[in-house]
Amino acid sequence: MKTRFLVIAAAVMIGFYAGCDTQIMGIKFGKGTNMNISKESFGKTPDDKLVDLYTLTNGNDMTVKITNYGGIITNLMVPDRDGKIDDVVLGFDTLEEYLAGHPYFGAIAGRYANRIAKGKFTLDGVEYNLAVNNGENHLHGGIVGFDKVVWTAVPGKARSDRVMLTLTYLSKDGEEGYPGNLNCTVVYELTADNELKITYKATTDKATVLNLTNHSYFNLAGQASGDILGHVLTLNANYFTPVDEGLIPTGQLDSVRGTVFDFTSPHTIGERLNDVPMTGGYDHNFCLNSQDGSLAWCATVYEPETGRVLEIETTQPGVQFYTGNFLDGSNKGKGTTYNKHNGFCLETQHWPDSPNKPHFPSAVLEPGRTYDEVTIFKFSTK
Ligand code: GLA
Repeated sequence: MKTRFLVIAAAVMIGFYAGCDTQIMGIKFGKGTNMNISKESFGKTPDDKLVDLYTLTNGNDMTVKITNYGGIITNLMVPDRDGKIDDVVLGFDTLEEYLAGHPYFGAIAGRYANRIAKGKFTLDGVEYNLAVNNGENHLHGGIVGFDKVVWTAVPGKARSDRVMLTLTYLSKDGEEGYPGNLNCTVVYELTADNELKITYKATTDKATVLNLTNHSYFNLAGQASGDILGHVLTLNANYFTPVDEGLIPTGQLDSVRGTVFDFTSPHTIGERLNDVPMTGGYDHNFCLNSQDGSLAWCATVYEPETGRVLEIETTQPGVQFYTGNFLDGSNKGKGTTYNKHNGFCLETQHWPDSPNKPHFPSAVLEPGRTYDEVTIFKFSTK
């Protein structure tokens, strides 16, 4: 009896310290293990670059698939409150469908995610002209943004508490009009706590502007389950940046209080969506209450039918809340068709058009400095 107790106690201690699964006499101790990463071919680009698809799994029924084409998260399998697993991001099954064009599903957006007015900015007295690819403005890095390039992928060795994939890309001086050779690293980590952590780092050899984000469209009820209007959102933002008709911030910071933008307490996404001026839904940058660059709570989204909860933490000063207003049924996804409001994005970021708004948090990266931002998407149920 005593020996049996000691064996169990030892197993619990090992499980606790290793943060891993320990199975003794049918009893499970510690956190899930079975951390794994595997790779398969995903095809090749028209210029013959080989593209792979990586599958990261943890011991808690969470799986994320990432391709090194655009650093795109293609699938994100998450359990609901009954343990039913579903894919909670919009996307496609094949590389060909991504190559055919899509609204940044799951991709890394950069070099400057979101908009730069008229595709122009001035840095150290030099005016730079970028591609104009969204009305009269520049969007998500231009014609061939970071969402359309092939990144170099290095899978990390699985540990007991996490598994990771490192993506690197050298954006050359002058690419899409931006100054400086920019070395970028994006690390995707899946943890035993059902977190998807994304770390962005970059260095440059000439002053440049930089804004990296992930453009996943979430539907916590499952990617094929229709609109996201019943999801309940809370945002840690007392202010937002109002926009003009081209979705460029006017430069003002407006209080959300008493407006359709007030998500400081929980509201369904659909409750006031039709009253959002101009944009056919939400497509706005929210100024996060934490502005000091530390990792802080950004948003919580709850889906009542499945009980899935997504909590977001970030070091970034803003988040673009976008309700898939431009989805129009033209994208046939994973066995489904994506219509208006079938997904929402919470793109953690610097504020849009910061290069032309000196009073916004600076998006300039100088040589000798390292751009270093983290966003965590944590999944649970209630
Ligand atoms: C961002 C923008 C939207 C739209 C989508 C892509 O989230 O803010 O206006 O351009 O990307 O369709």
